[in-house]
Amino acid sequence: MSTFIHYSRQDDVAVLTIDNPPVNAMSPGVPEALEAALDQAADDPVVRAIVVIGAGRTFIAGADIGVLEDMAWGRRPPMEGWHGLLAKLEASPKPLVMAIHGSALGGGLEVAMAGHYRVAVATAQLGQPEVELGIMPGAEGTQRLPRLVGVEKALEMCIAGKPVKAAEALSAGLIDAVMEGDLLAGAVAFARNAGACRKTSERADRLGNPEANAPLFAAGLQLAAKVRRNQEAPLRVVQAIEAATTLPFEEGCRLERELFRACLVSDQAKALMHVFFAERMASKVPGVDKNTTVYPVARAGIVGAGTMGGGIAMCFANAGIPVLLKETTAAALDAGMARIRQNYENSRKRGRFTAEEVERRLALIHPQLDWSGFDAVDLTLEAVFESMSLKKQIFAELDRVARPGCVLATNTSTLSIDEIAAVTARPEFVIGMHFFSPANVMRLLEVVRGSATSLAVIATAMALAKQLRKVAVLVGNCPGFVGNRMFFPYMYEGQFLAEDGATPQQVDRVLTNFGMAMGIFAVDDLAGIDVGWRVRQELTLGDPGGRQPRVADRLYAMGRYGQKTGKGWYLYGEDRKPVADPEVVALIEAASAEAGIARRSIGDQEILERSVYALVNEGARILEEGFAQRASDIDVVYVNGYGFPSWRGGPMFYADTVGLDKVLAAVEGFGWKPAPLLQRLAAEGKTFREGCATGSRDR
Ligand code: 3HC
Ligand code: NAI
Repeated sequence: MSTFIHYSRQDDVAVLTIDNPPVNAMSPGVPEALEAALDQAADDPVVRAIVVIGAGRTFIAGADIGVLEDMAWGRRPPMEGWHGLLAKLEASPKPLVMAIHGSALGGGLEVAMAGHYRVAVATAQLGQPEVELGIMPGAEGTQRLPRLVGVEKALEMCIAGKPVKAAEALSAGLIDAVMEGDLLAGAVAFARNAGACRKTSERADRLGNPEANAPLFAAGLQLAAKVRRNQEAPLRVVQAIEAATTLPFEEGCRLERELFRACLVSDQAKALMHVFFAERMASKVPGVDKNTTVYPVARAGIVGAGTMGGGIAMCFANAGIPVLLKETTAAALDAGMARIRQNYENSRKRGRFTAEEVERRLALIHPQLDWSGFDAVDLTLEAVFESMSLKKQIFAELDRVARPGCVLATNTSTLSIDEIAAVTARPEFVIGMHFFSPANVMRLLEVVRGSATSLAVIATAMALAKQLRKVAVLVGNCPGFVGNRMFFPYMYEGQFLAEDGATPQQVDRVLTNFGMAMGIFAVDDLAGIDVGWRVRQELTLGDPGGRQPRVADRLYAMGRYGQKTGKGWYLYGEDRKPVADPEVVALIEAASAEAGIARRSIGDQEILERSVYALVNEGARILEEGFAQRASDIDVVYVNGYGFPSWRGGPMFYADTVGLDKVLAAVEGFGWKPAPLLQRLAAEGKTFREGCATGSRDR
């Protein structure tokens, strides 16, 4: 028998255990081995029923995404589909029970649905997350899922891509029982008592009728536009599920295969698969391996209960880690705790958790005005105002109060970790953990290594990030680190475009059409024009002695701080929607005139190129200076922290798709200094993926 499937028997029940670590993906060889094991069980006269189960931590996490990525890039022929396997599962002459723990995702759920019965442990998650990869279910999921759960639920699961837990799967009709106790024992007992060999493909009772379905498909398209704006795969999902309701099963499957193949070779699929592997690669740090010490973080202390400190405290509480939260005044502390409670209450109102859960999480956050207990925490996280002198004062104090071996982290968004570490007697324990706002929502965490930070402390921060459910990227200690360092030239370019003749609305429209979550001026208004002003007092941004934007400082002087004052680059009413303000346009025009700039009409393409290539050129500098480990790390930062469209793969991946020679020509055409790395790669005819270490598999 193959190493992928272990065949065993419990009296009259055959147990087929899929074993392809780490997540039992359906890599080449697994479907074939499963077919062979099914034949063996069918031929075994003692066997009356069959259980399929996963070894290790999960059932089947889906098709092998590495193989799919190879197919997308043409390095392998397109998938043949597992039609033979699925048909064989369904046609099994003996009752077939799928026993699910961990995840049954994508192709994993599709295999499960071809079985006659499904049982799962309460913690199992089941879903069709293919759209996250720019593809759609390709192993008959769009045909079987609506037959089990109905059209509406199938659309939701395949478009949103969010897995459901066992209880929800049971009430939806996806599984037949939630198992308590030992899964295998329960599944074997279930199989022994199972009734007929039911074929999902022959069910039609949940497929509805054309009149009832029409609004469901319209709603599906709306959902796709809302949660996956500009993405192709969810639209194909709607088409395929619609086919399930109008075509015979076999024909529906044929259409699904065609649509799947078209999705698989699309640029969006290539970009999203790149992001999948890039996110996982980002957590790997050269020099850190399983022998590296990771300090356990069982208790933490946070300094500052403002916007960030409060959000970070929630991240810890959400992960079940108790935190001390220290402030300077009772008023600031009360305000901080009230904000935290409000956030939790909002989640409760949205049905995300119960009132008890709110109290349980709040009880993990201990508000205080002194240092009591800070001598017993494993990690401290400083989130006070962005001022070097204040941070130095706090770190000197923390160094005195915290026990030896306690990690001292700062949430600074721009300041030098080394300068902060220098005031302590333990610079090897000092590290940046740069969360993004709102900290309890945004997935990105930049882990900033100082020159003295030890590998153990880096490994601790990376492990903690995983516990906090963040996507961590290790970056170097330069002003603004990776994300903000790239953001500054991007933001400046937006303002230069306005001074050259564009309007804030035009720039923002081009960027959101490109897929950015928000335009640059809207972001500045949200983050606070005062915040940007304060950063400029601490750091010199842009080309020293070169062009500097003229309008932001004036808005600051006018008290137009953005959304918080109801006015910034835009005007804001109750609904917080940005409205163009003629006063700002006049201000920009006056600034252009003062600078002797003849305003001209600026095309959308120029806006796009100047904005995105400003990111790319700075990203290339960061890479060659060694402040990012890989081009793909930069993509992870931008996709998870700055609203860059994941389906374009991040700025560096996007530049590769444009062609670095074209990017370089544009950069030179704008009169900018090109990054030497960009020049070198363009001259060699290479991409960032080929020329720099990357998370993609196509190095
Ligand atoms: N194929 C190949 N490798 C996979 C994989 C898959 N489907 N799923 C996970 N892996 C790999 C990861 O790359 C990682 O490798 P590494 O250790 O070398 O970095 C390792 O497995 C562990 O993954 P995670 O770090 O993500 O582990 P977690 O425990 O945090 O999460 C998981 C486990 C929930 C299964 C998560 O990995 C996941 O969501 N995987 C993707 C699931 C998915 O999208 N399935 C659908 C695939 S497409 C499909 O099936 C098409 C079909 O319709 C034909
Ligand atoms: P904030 O102004 O909302 O909060 C700072 C808090 O620190 C205030 O509540 C203040 O009372 C408190 N504080 C000041 N001195 C203190 C002391 N000695 N002891 C205890 N508390 C003290 O500021 P915000 O936005 O939370 O920023 C905090 C840090 O996080 C800054 O370094 C900032 O650069 C960084 N950051 C901010 C982001 C944002 O979007 N706001 C994003 C990422 C990082």
